[in-house]
Amino acid sequence: MFNGAVRTEREGVGMEGYKKHIFICENLRDADSPKGSCGRKSSSEIKIKLKAALKARGLEKVYRANTAGCLGMCEHGPTVVIYPQGVWYGGVTTDDVDEILEKSILADEVIERLLIKDAKKESPNEKIGFA
Ligand code: FES
Repeated sequence: MFNGAVRTEREGVGMEGYKKHIFICENLRDADSPKGSCGRKSSSEIKIKLKAALKARGLEKVYRANTAGCLGMCEHGPTVVIYPQGVWYGGVTTDDVDEILEKSILADEVIERLLIKDAKKESPNEKIGFA
């Protein structure tokens, strides 16, 4: 059986049970990689802080914060994407976590300054009309 399904059944929360999924890229490349990586820009601390903030409010079964591998926006990292809205944030720091929780997770607001905008290619936010 698929491990994810087993775990969610045990927790009593199905995949449909979460109001939102927040994926935080923790991909880690070698320090000299020209692409860089979110894992070298404190993305693990972002995830830990967000998970702790959700738990402190008793919301860890309502909103799910997960580690993600590379999300393909390495040059904008640390990268965070929130579904189902599909809003993509870049350059996120631990200082942004409380605002992301209050505005984007709990209130469905978009934090303009964190939106990934890319002059060279269409960003995921542009594809869905956020930027
Ligand atoms: S390493 Fe984070 S988006 Fe690629």
